[in-house]
Amino acid sequence: MKRLGKQKFKKSSRGLNTMDYRLKSMIKACIFDLDGVIVDTAVYHYQAWKRLANELGFDFTEHQNEQLKGVSRVRSLELILGWGNVTKTPAEQTELATRKNQWYVEMINRMEPSEILPGALEFLQTAKAAGLKTALGSASKNSSIILERVGLLPYFDAIVDGNHVTASKPDPEVFLKGAEALGMNPTECVVFEDAIAGVQAGKAGGMKVVGIGSPAVLTEADIVIPGLHEMTLEKLKELNSVKNR
Ligand code: BG6
Ligand code: MG
Repeated sequence: MKRLGKQKFKKSSRGLNTMDYRLKSMIKACIFDLDGVIVDTAVYHYQAWKRLANELGFDFTEHQNEQLKGVSRVRSLELILGWGNVTKTPAEQTELATRKNQWYVEMINRMEPSEILPGALEFLQTAKAAGLKTALGSASKNSSIILERVGLLPYFDAIVDGNHVTASKPDPEVFLKGAEALGMNPTECVVFEDAIAGVQAGKAGGMKVVGIGSPAVLTEADIVIPGLHEMTLEKLKELNSVKNR
């Protein structure tokens, strides 16, 4: 028999010993949304979409940008064209989405580790030290560039993003594929999400969901915290006793 007592387990800076965690939790994996959870790229999406809208002759507000969180690039463009009362052919839409993405990629190519949201790196380190598997579950097709630029690629065991899915959140496909890539059952996974559609996707996939943001907005999440700086192994363990909705 393995003598667990002889093994060295790092004491979590947030209290719970990682050894305790392994013994007591059913949750074995964390699947993270990217934008709004790990980094804040909404500001770059906003600038690029605004530039496109302005070139087309109408404005694009921050309030409208909020409604695009978690929404795919193609669907975002459809919504923006609708707000501007502009009709474009499918070929023109492809060209516009490509143009927006070029501006966006120019900006994210300049991202730095200082742009990681508070507590994200620390919680990833805590999760890895506790033996949890980690995956990314993002709608973005640019997630690898972003993780590479901010230095977080080594913290993920699997990356599933907009390049690997056909259905957008609230469809659970991205999270189910993340669980599968980690070799986990959905019930062994916790999803971290800041968008309503993302929370719904996690719940539709049969996972526990930690909402990042406001409880008044993310009403379907199992728990809601303001950011990963508030996440601990204790809170993760408590999710075991939360009944699936
Ligand atoms: C999501 C963002 O993560 O990715 C959305 O919240 C964005 O705002 C979507 O539209 C797609 O991103 P990308 O990088 O593929 O254009
Ligand atoms: Mg998000």
